[in-house]
Amino acid sequence: MNPRARISGLGKYLPEKILTNADLEKLVDTSDAWIQERTGIRERRIAADNESASTMAIEAARQALEQAEIDPADLDLVIVATTSPDGLFPATASLVQNGLGAGRAGAFDVNAACVGFLSGLATGAQFIETGAYKRVLVIGTEVLSRIVDWTDRGTCLLFADAAGAVVLEASDRGGPLSFVLHSDGSGADKLFAHGPATRKDIADRDCHFISMDGRHIFKFAVQAMESAAREAIAKAGLEIDDIDLLVPHQANLRIIRATAKALGLPEERAMINVDRYGNTSAASIPVALREAWEEGRLHEGDRVVLMTFGGGLAWGAMVLDWAPVGPLTAAVTPVHATAGGN
Ligand code: UT7
Repeated sequence: MNPRARISGLGKYLPEKILTNADLEKLVDTSDAWIQERTGIRERRIAADNESASTMAIEAARQALEQAEIDPADLDLVIVATTSPDGLFPATASLVQNGLGAGRAGAFDVNAACVGFLSGLATGAQFIETGAYKRVLVIGTEVLSRIVDWTDRGTCLLFADAAGAVVLEASDRGGPLSFVLHSDGSGADKLFAHGPATRKDIADRDCHFISMDGRHIFKFAVQAMESAAREAIAKAGLEIDDIDLLVPHQANLRIIRATAKALGLPEERAMINVDRYGNTSAASIPVALREAWEEGRLHEGDRVVLMTFGGGLAWGAMVLDWAPVGPLTAAVTPVHATAGGN
């Protein structure tokens, strides 16, 4: 039997600085009441000047590795999902690999905007399920505050900074049961970044900022997450009622509520922390997953659906069979890799 890619460690890092809706009222023409009603967001975190996608990723990764009781030196691969990397290249994953002291690990970045973490997780799981690698670190990290137009009230209240990480380990239980990833690049102009780029019409040496058609994305979001979740659940051979917890991309409380409703699941079955952190793109799902664990909402054998949407346009979902985090125990027999890394 092929190894399963169990999640053995979860980590998060939130910068200390809090930006409240009241703070935003001083920057743009908006109000706390409007933001709460339309998005559910109360506050978000903003990275300090000495923080970047890689430094925050390293903090989240350390927490995940500690929980899994894995020495960074034993990692086979580091995957970083980000749309706000330290630089165009090298890969932020290489900076994280070095910062952690993961001397024998390969490293690369994944950019699929808010679908980045799910894409990275699906990729990392393949390395384990094929037997190529045994320990893979997957991180979502974003410093969106540096690529937000602070004069645009349609975006600056949504996007913020965070990092989340998971350790995937070869095991005989737990891990993804199914996943689906989709893309429709015809909607590329609905959510994109101006800035350092090789395409002349969006390249701008002096600034770098997110441009979004919020209404278009809103309509796309609910339908995209619902259809992806249904597809992944069916692919796993399950029914909607079998799902114990939804961990949706934290973009907007109204989108999360509408998606849960469309799936016919009560809102209580969805993990929600968008009120405290806003939309942290690739970091949003791993941070929410860590907090679901902290809140005691993840139990052995639970069927957990991760689902997301965003720039691309892109969308996807994954069904996880939850096995307890932490080191491999007698109850979880390690599966030995059959090829590749050791
Ligand atoms: O990871 C994926 C990222 N993107 C998303 O998830 C974005 C999805 N879209 C959204 O979350 C919502 O579309 C927004 C939160 C961006 C906007 O909410 P909305 O309910 O779609 O508002 P709207 O753009 O339809 O605007 C409604 C009204 C307009 O006024 P009028 O024309 O009705 O008089 C806007 O001018 O609200 C006004 N408005 C604001 N008012 C106060 C727009 N932005 C603001 C604001 N503060 N920040």
